[in-house]
Amino acid sequence: MKIREMQQGDIPAVVEIENQNFREPWTEAIFKEEMAQGTRTYYIAELEDRIIGYMGLIWILDEGHITNVAIDANHQGMGYGRELMTYVANLAFEKGLTSMTLEVRASNARAIHVYESLGFINEGTRPKYYEGREDAYIMWLYKEAWNERTV
Ligand SMILES: CC(C)(COP(=O)(O)OP(=O)(O)OC[C@H]1O[C@@H](n2cnc3c(N)ncnc32)[C@H](O)[C@@H]1OP(=O)(O)O)[C@@H](O)C(=O)NCCC(=O)NCCS
Repeated sequence: MKIREMQQGDIPAVVEIENQNFREPWTEAIFKEEMAQGTRTYYIAELEDRIIGYMGLIWILDEGHITNVAIDANHQGMGYGRELMTYVANLAFEKGLTSMTLEVRASNARAIHVYESLGFINEGTRPKYYEGREDAYIMWLYKEAWNERTV
């Protein structure tokens, strides 16, 4: 799998994956706005020049906020999501972040499993955050834990 920074031309393929995976998918316009902001980086995962996933990171001082992460439906469960997040975590901690955080639906057992396997810890709940119904877990990954994991 190859990982690189997202370009404008990647947006239609990314939105296709977004549409497969989320109840309130981001549009092309939202991705354009996101990419125009200097504090955000989007990463693309490719297999043989085909986009199979992406992940976004907002850089806020020494904290990284993961905006979204998704793998194309035909390629889920094959290790690519963990590989993409591992790559971005290594890069982000090398570049000076000390922690990374994300929000996840309480029912999203697969995503939570992947995050916990990387060392993310559930540190809080936003009650009824999604559609006024479903809780969000707020998970954090710390650089020290990450370094201990990879040593
Ligand atoms: C979440 C997501 C990014 C993970 O990427 P992926 O490539 O599918 O995941 P991986 O193949 O790297 O790892 C899957 C792991 O979840 C486990 N898993 C699968 N289904 C599971 C379930 N229902 N409950 C718990 N664990 C589960 C697998 O066993 C595997 O773990 P293991 O390697 O320790 O055995 C991807 O599935 C996805 O895009 N999902 C839809 C969008 C989404 O939910 N994004 C996250 C929003 S916060």
